[in-house]
Amino acid sequence: MKIPLLFACVLGCLVAPAARAQNEIVIGHFGSLTGGTATFGTSTKEGIDLAVKEINDAGGVLGKKIRVVHEDDQSKSEQATAAVFKLINQDKVVALIGEVASTRSLAAAPTAQRSRVPMLSPASTNPKVTQTGDYIFRSCFIDPFQGAAMADFLMKSDKGPKVKRVAVLYDVRNDYSTGLREFFTNTVKAGGGQIVADEAYGEGDTDFRAQLTKIKQANPEAIYVPGYYTEIGLIARQARDLGVNVPLCGGDGWDSEKLFEGGGAAINGCYFTNHYSAQEERPAVRKFVADYKAMYGGKTPDAMAILGYDAMRIMADAITRAGNTRGKAVRDALAATKDFPAASGTITIDKDRNAQKPIVVLKVQDGKTSFLTSVDPGGAGK
Ligand code: PHE
Repeated sequence: MKIPLLFACVLGCLVAPAARAQNEIVIGHFGSLTGGTATFGTSTKEGIDLAVKEINDAGGVLGKKIRVVHEDDQSKSEQATAAVFKLINQDKVVALIGEVASTRSLAAAPTAQRSRVPMLSPASTNPKVTQTGDYIFRSCFIDPFQGAAMADFLMKSDKGPKVKRVAVLYDVRNDYSTGLREFFTNTVKAGGGQIVADEAYGEGDTDFRAQLTKIKQANPEAIYVPGYYTEIGLIARQARDLGVNVPLCGGDGWDSEKLFEGGGAAINGCYFTNHYSAQEERPAVRKFVADYKAMYGGKTPDAMAILGYDAMRIMADAITRAGNTRGKAVRDALAATKDFPAASGTITIDKDRNAQKPIVVLKVQDGKTSFLTSVDPGGAGK
């Protein structure tokens, strides 16, 4: 009896993955489901799961159901690399969606590139991410555009504060933050503005008073803080305590329901750039917001949720056009993505494997954001 049992087991182990592969397409998502930026990964997962449900309900892709393996990287770069390694080598995924944070996409992308498994970041905006190699894509705009959009808004927009003297406070450990600092600064200077202070902090810091005191002495009219929501609330409270009452402004990294808990009234009147606003009237946005709320108990989707949803649909579309799940075929189909009707905007992947999309400027007031204006990629960023 022993031999047949063992034989059955070995045979079972051998055929199981192949049998599974015949009726499903396995895609990997790696993201920060826990840790310092837990809302980034959680929202992305929720957006992906909504897209998968819709795609599978409509018959799947190439006659198969999509199954996503979600891997938590705990908001850590080394875990992001480990997650991608596991997804490729153990789960045998045909493609990857992730990460949100540019630093973690940069850490993990070389592993995907070496294995020739296409990786699509829904939300990493630092230009270097897709420069890793020809299997690395993103379906969002990049930070030269994002940094310029906020600089132009602050200095020139009729809806903005029309300032000339700006301070910068950035996260020196975060590629996204250091990139935005550079792009924002360049646009301020080119537009005839002045950077009156340039201060740094490190992710996880809790005391920003020394930097804020220097910034106060420089007497800016606004402060650009291109960091993640976790620190923004604290920075805003400490600024107000020190009597610094000018608006703080930032980028998409501010987007989290936790921003309001962390910042309270201290972030009223502040601005940030983002990928979309849940208040937009576009029918595609209204449909997404309604479907997401129906699936997740009335919760309003943030930017990562819609970007995760869109990335999953772009990936499914690419696999459909590829006609098979081989890495090269899916890569080529992703590269050929043109005028894809994503919920967050129409997406064409350019020759650098990036997407060009409009950006929105939001204002924070009383625990909510309101939509102020949007900028097309043909404008600021070019
Ligand atoms: N763009 C940020 C980065 O590259 C991540 C992010 C995207 C954060 C969207 C919030 C919303 O690091």
